[in-house]
This record gives sequence, C-alpha cells and structure tokens, in this order.
Amino acid sequence: MPETIFQAWSVAHQNRFEGVLRSILPSAEVAPERLHAAMRYSVLEGGKRVRPLLAFAAGELTGAEISRVNIAAAAVELIHAYSLVHDDMPCMDNDVLRRGKPTCHVQFDEAAALLVGDALQSLAFQLLGEHTLNADPARQLQMVKLLAAASGSRGMAGGQAIDLDSVGKQLSLPELEFMHIHKTGALIRAAVLLGAHCGERLDDANLNLLDRFSKCVGLAFQVVDDVLDSEADTATLGKTAGKDADHHKPTYVTLLGVQAARIMAAELHSEALDTLAGFGEEARRLRELADFIVLRKF
Ligand code: IPE
Ligand code: IPE
Ligand code: MG
Ligand code: MG
Ligand code: MG
Repeated sequence: MPETIFQAWSVAHQNRFEGVLRSILPSAEVAPERLHAAMRYSVLEGGKRVRPLLAFAAGELTGAEISRVNIAAAAVELIHAYSLVHDDMPCMDNDVLRRGKPTCHVQFDEAAALLVGDALQSLAFQLLGEHTLNADPARQLQMVKLLAAASGSRGMAGGQAIDLDSVGKQLSLPELEFMHIHKTGALIRAAVLLGAHCGERLDDANLNLLDRFSKCVGLAFQVVDDVLDSEADTATLGKTAGKDADHHKPTYVTLLGVQAARIMAAELHSEALDTLAGFGEEARRLRELADFIVLRKF
C-alpha cells in the first residue's frame, strides 16, 4: 500500500501485528495459566509498536516477505515488553502505570513480573530458532546474534544497569549518550536491522546506511522519552509523568534543559534523514517513522 498516508499504514500494521502477537503468545487457558495471562497482559493491547513498525518499514526497503518480518518484529517487541515489565518493578523504577494500565507486578505480583520477563525473552529467541527468516542460514544466525547482543549486558540490560547506577549522579554528555544508546538505542537498532535482514535486497553499503539511521533514531527516541517525561502528562503518556526528576535520574533534560534536548533530537532527526537520502520511495516509511519518533506527543 505505497500510496497510503503514514497514519493508515501504521494503524493497519499495528492491527495486523496485534493478531500476530495474540497467536504467538501461549493461551491463558494453557498451564501455567497465571503466567500466560500475565505475559498476555504485558504484551497485548498497548504500546505504540514503534519497533515492529521500524522492522516493517526496513523490510519494505529490502523486499522482505511480511510473514518473515512478523516474526522478527515479534521477537524484538517481546524483548521490549519484557524490558518494560522489569523496568517498572520496585527494584528498578518502581512504577505503577504502564500503557495506561497497572504495571505487571501491581496487577499480578513481583514474582510473576520477574517470570514474565524471563519467559518473554525465551519466547523471542524460540521464534528466531523456529521460523525461517532468510534463505541463507548464516544470515539467520547473524540475526539471532544481533538480537542477543542488543538485549544483553552490552545492549539493553547493560544500559539499564548504568541507568540504575546513575541515580543521583550527574553524568557527562558522553556518559549519558552511552547509557541511552544501550538501554534504548540497541533494541531500536535491532528492530531496523532484523527487519532489513528478512529481505534479500541488502548489500553492505545499504546495511551500513540503515545501521547509521537506526543509531540516530534509537538515541533520539530516548532523548524524546526524557523530554516527554518532563513535559507531558500522565494521561497522555499512559505512564507516570515527571518520574525521572522524582527519582533523581540523569537525563538529557536534567543535563541540558528541555530546549537543548529538543534541539539535540532535531539534529539526530535530520542526521537520520540524511542517511536515507540515497534511497527513493522504498525508504518512505522509515523517513516517516523518524519524523514520528522525534515529533510524537506520547
Ligand atoms: C518506552 O518505550 C521505554 C523506552 C525505551 C524509552 P516505548 O515508548 O516504545 O513504549 P511503548 O512500547 O510505546 O509502551
Ligand atoms: C527504559 O527507560 C528503557 C528500557 C525499558 C530498556 P525509561 O525508564 O525511561 O522508560 P519509561 O520512561 O519507564 O518507559
Ligand atoms: Mg528506567
Ligand atoms: Mg522507567
Ligand atoms: Mg522514561
């Protein structure tokens, strides 16, 4: 549907992808019922699905079959959902609201939230092992390694560790960037690259451009998250506003102020668009997603 507007494109993918996630997640009627119910509660009916949309957009660029990108996108979204469940736990950010609903540990309990994270992470990798995502097995193996690295101690989990270690401290700009690139940028990058790897039209030069694009939007995403935490309201965000300041978290807003943080997001935005300058219409959705990531209100 190349001629549809971005809004229609994203809603169509979000709705279709909800069905994909529903069928992938174990039924809440299958034992252990409560764990499965908590997994479904934490993944379904909520979230902007930005990472899956990035994977679909990158897949369009490389001519990927949608059935393959569904699996890659689901794997990334399951890891993301797990990271949110753990991020909200009392031992981390201690939040009670997520995606407009009580957080997993509030709705269920802490042990359930811990296990939801464990199980979602395993399910993500099970998907990458069960489904053919590229005709070339070496490339598929590369995709598994990519998601593992993006999730682990040198990716999201490492970034989260730095985030917790940084409470009450003033970080330098490079330190803050390092934290954001890991805790948020890594999974966004994985979403773009996994989606792209599902297709066959991907040479090293284009892979390099997509890599640069994904790094810019990945960092911009967290800069904007920091800005929204300080400027938006809880009802709009579906999560508690103002919590970074309350929890003494160093962010781009505390370090630079809202204005400079917004300027930085705008610079990353134009850098991201520059990396796509050599592509034509096939990169349209990626460009629009870069716009959405920086200009969004929630
Ligand atoms: C929130 O991510 C956590 C960060 C990495 C900043 P999103 O803003 O993508 O959360 P959902 O998936 O839309 O709820
Ligand atoms: C969370 O960053 C990043 C991950 C979950 C990996 P935040 O702690 O800022 O996310 P929100 O604001 O709670 O969504
Ligand atoms: Mg956090
Ligand atoms: Mg948080
Ligand atoms: Mg935040």
